[in-house]
Amino acid sequence: MGYNIAIDGPAGAGKSTIAKLVAKKKGCIYVDTGALYRGLAVHFLDRGIDPSDKEKIIEACEDADVTIRYEAGVQQIYLNGENITSRLRTEEAGNMASVSSAVPEVRTKLLELQRNLAAEQDVVMDGRDIGTCVLPDADVKVYLTASVETRARRRYEELKAKGVGCVYSEIAADIEARDRRDMTRETAPLKQAEDAVLVDSSDMTIPEVVEAIIRLCR
Ligand code: C5P
Repeated sequence: MGYNIAIDGPAGAGKSTIAKLVAKKKGCIYVDTGALYRGLAVHFLDRGIDPSDKEKIIEACEDADVTIRYEAGVQQIYLNGENITSRLRTEEAGNMASVSSAVPEVRTKLLELQRNLAAEQDVVMDGRDIGTCVLPDADVKVYLTASVETRARRRYEELKAKGVGCVYSEIAADIEARDRRDMTRETAPLKQAEDAVLVDSSDMTIPEVVEAIIRLCR
């Protein structure tokens, strides 16, 4: 069993930024599990499936083979042998992932892959159900959150810096809708594990959050 750090929390809490930095400091591999759900989402989108069509999603799971590879230390997602990493971060893939991740068959499909990765090596794994479901025996568990306003503002600034047109109120509404879906689904809902440490990053800088998590590892 590797040394495992689980970081869960809602959309836009900064999990991937923080997890990558913690992984670098601890010499662990960073596993972004949201990318796996997004990978399956790309498969469903390619088949023209509507996010609300649960039957078709379950059926399409059968011919999807999602794997992770590390190329120059960077996580790459392969879908049926093809590298689809560049297609994961679209709004469309995010929305499909947010809805289809509530389907139990989708979660089961990705569970073993996540557990195998953590068993083989030292990992910092981020997601929604890592501490509660995927790695209940993780060495360190963090529930990383921030207020809706903070998360929406960060996302807004990020998009603006990229030159993408966006409306703050729409971003905030989208974040709230995603939180609701993740927290209220029946299978592996987003919640703080009993033995997880709550870190609210609303008024913390990135280095402060990283340092707080590194301290928990000692
Ligand atoms: O974190 P990210 O936005 O990439 O995740 C995409 C979607 O995948 C989330 O909206 C969430 O519904 C789902 N997800 C999940 N469990 C995880 C990671 C992501 O349900 N461990």
